[in-house]
Amino acid sequence: MLTTNLTELLQEAFTQAGYDKSYAVVVKSQRPELCQFQCNGCMSASKQYKKPPFVLAEEVVARLKGLEGADAILQSAEVAKPGFINLTLQDSFLASAMDHLRTDGRAGVGLAPSPYTIVLDYGGPNIAKPLHVGHLRTAIIGESIKRLSRFLGHEVIGDIHLGDWGLQMGMVISEIRRRQPDLPYFDENYSGAYPSEPPFTLEDLEEIYPMVSKLAKEDEAVNAAAKEATFDLQNGRRGYVALWKHIVDLSLGDIRKNYARLGVDFDLWYGESTSNAYVEDVIEILQEQNALYESQGAMVVDVGRPDDKKEIPPIIIYKSDGSILYGTTDLATLYQRAKDFDPDYVLYVVDSRQANHFLQVFRCATDHGIVAEHTKLEHIGFGTMNGKDGKPFKTREGGVLRLSDLIDMVENNAREKILDKEGLDVEEVTHKVGLATLKFADLSNYRMKDYIFDLDKFSSFEGKTGPYILYTNVRINNILSKLEGTVPGPILPAASEVERQIFLKVGELPHALETAFIERAPSVVCEYVYELSTLLNGFYHAHHILNEKDLERKQSWVSLLLLAKKVSGICLDILGLEVPERM
Ligand code: ARG
Repeated sequence: MLTTNLTELLQEAFTQAGYDKSYAVVVKSQRPELCQFQCNGCMSASKQYKKPPFVLAEEVVARLKGLEGADAILQSAEVAKPGFINLTLQDSFLASAMDHLRTDGRAGVGLAPSPYTIVLDYGGPNIAKPLHVGHLRTAIIGESIKRLSRFLGHEVIGDIHLGDWGLQMGMVISEIRRRQPDLPYFDENYSGAYPSEPPFTLEDLEEIYPMVSKLAKEDEAVNAAAKEATFDLQNGRRGYVALWKHIVDLSLGDIRKNYARLGVDFDLWYGESTSNAYVEDVIEILQEQNALYESQGAMVVDVGRPDDKKEIPPIIIYKSDGSILYGTTDLATLYQRAKDFDPDYVLYVVDSRQANHFLQVFRCATDHGIVAEHTKLEHIGFGTMNGKDGKPFKTREGGVLRLSDLIDMVENNAREKILDKEGLDVEEVTHKVGLATLKFADLSNYRMKDYIFDLDKFSSFEGKTGPYILYTNVRINNILSKLEGTVPGPILPAASEVERQIFLKVGELPHALETAFIERAPSVVCEYVYELSTLLNGFYHAHHILNEKDLERKQSWVSLLLLAKKVSGICLDILGLEVPERM
């Protein structure tokens, strides 16, 4: 917001000096001890105008100072070698800019002038397998990107894209068949209705899947039976479809519970199976374009490019036995998404290790018109959450850690730390602090990087952690409730450097959110809200707000706290964190 004001002012000065206004870009200062903002445009302009940057900058600054009203905005505008323009705002201007934001529910953040339609594919859990830590990042990062995009005015359709159609379904079905062969689901001549209750429990399912999946690797007969069952299911065998529905319903109940606990929600609960109806269309499109050919017993499509650094193999569409693959369901899903939403973007928040898969799918889809030309496909990858040994996070016994156990772990940790103050809703606080620990730890690491899950560090009330951010907000609320008798008044020029820094930080919000959106990086929002929190804590330390004698000053501070609460609230909401009443 402030940088936009200043850019506009500088554009005028550049134009008056006879230079292209596109050079007049103002950014936050990289040398805060010298100035608040800077313009680096003269360095690039110097090439076009064949004049030293310093000379250009001097000319622009001279014009700038002559502009009407510039005095009221700028406290100083100086040229620094080799041609920077350093700018610092008048405190009165800064205060009035803050005062404007008081009544703006969006705290200065504009809505996208031409909003995008975005399909966001995240979550991607697999039916019949319990959610584990590997599902955490996609859920949390995806949810945050959804909230951020929506806040900026884009239309987002979040789709969970359940793994409900692959070989794992065939494995489970064939194993149930081995155990209970007399069930009507397996009788091909059975034409009656199937039982409404499943012939197994969730616990059975959770035991069956890992068991059969291990067995299938060792025993070819088991593997073959699973493949056959998968094929029959995908081709609509009645009993299998009925059994499959039981598996999906049972498993989905548990999946929903886990996501609800995480505060993650989806608009569409579609799965790979949903795309089955479009597989034929996709194959037809590929056939019409003569893109499909046979290779090693499968029908494939080339997606390599001559300038690929490493070879990208063709994408397999179906095998000789007719079974379709992961890439096929993704192509069919894209086809459906194109038909249903004609999106500008389809974003996939999926582990970076699937990069090649998406490269193949995207190339095939764009090369052959499965999506419209204007639709951009993007894989938003992320790294792994590791244990202290630097290897993917495991249970103490070395097994895969369930997501629900991980959530229990952070909640238990929070419970231990929270003092049993009178009237405190321990469960509410435990849940909110626990989740904040987990989410902030995950989101604050730039998504492409692996990170080490260090519960002691992440749950600390100090440092760059979720609990610290929550605590700062609880503190704002606390002070505000003690100041209830003081009406908020106009925001006065900053009384101290730390207050001035808060003003500047508040003014950075639009830029921070825009950057986070462009980079698909919630970590930018984490960094921002952390810096704001640190300043706010410094502010409480520097000023005795409650004892302030000057009423106008006190009223100004109430307004500032309300503004800071609004700004923080926007960020917390984007990150999916909730502030407890007390902690
Ligand atoms: N179920 C998949 C897995 O566990 C992730 C799905 C990601 N989304 C997609 N459209 N392929 O690996």
